[in-house]
Amino acid sequence: MLKNTANTYGIVAKAFHWVLFLMLTFSIIAGNFLAAMPKGAEKLQAAGMHKSFGAVILMLIMLRFVWKLLNETPDLPAGTTAKETMLARGMHWFLYALMFAQPLSGIMMSQAAGIPVSFFGLFEFPVFLEKAPELAKFFRGVHGTVWILLVVSVVGHVGAALHHHFIRKDNVLKQMTTGA
Ligand code: HEM
Ligand code: HEM
Repeated sequence: MLKNTANTYGIVAKAFHWVLFLMLTFSIIAGNFLAAMPKGAEKLQAAGMHKSFGAVILMLIMLRFVWKLLNETPDLPAGTTAKETMLARGMHWFLYALMFAQPLSGIMMSQAAGIPVSFFGLFEFPVFLEKAPELAKFFRGVHGTVWILLVVSVVGHVGAALHHHFIRKDNVLKQMTTGA
């Protein structure tokens, strides 16, 4: 089933979820290596790859978000309280906000630093921020903070998924993996 149903996420939502999980994990690790590199030609090259890959992630997140809005959200297990439902749904919105903020802050950091972002050297993205070193510093701070919030939130998110699967023994993890 391509689309979500009341019982399970569809193939498209599952593909977005797991592909982006892998891409985000890889980019967080690569970004940390990048930040630790000494300035020079090699760092510039690595930064170019990191930015292009980040731009692909941003496009995938935009598509995923549109797909989410076009789909129903599968029901939570019977007996879930209103408070638990709000917490689960709120956490998912928060994860989207963080997934958007990470690449966007990267693009703003680069533009404010006066370095346009190219897509694997094929073309450059339109520049919408003027060069402003203070602003570049600010967005660098945001870019260096959001991924930590993302990691912490995902640890909670995974904890909740495992709690559902092993303690409550319900279908929540199956809805995002093998089906309901
Ligand atoms: C979702 C995609 C992305 C992830 C997960 C990610 C993650 C990271 C991480 C974890 C760091 C290390 C931060 C630090 O410790 O200070 C980093 C650094 C960096 N990121 Fe990203 N990033 C993404 C997208 C982008 C994009 C789209 C751009 C620019 C167009 C970008 C530009 C940079 C730059 C220039 C640095 C190096 C900053 C420095 O040298 O301190 N990133 N990234
Ligand atoms: C980068 C890491 C991750 C992010 C950003 C993330 C984000 C999300 C988001 C936004 C949703 C809501 C559904 C949607 O709109 O697609 C979701 C659902 C879900 N995720 Fe993740 N996720 C991550 C990693 C994981 C991992 C590693 C697991 C495995 C333990 C997991 C298990 C689940 C499950 C079981 C659901 C369905 C929850 C429900 O039906 O209420 N996620 N995830």
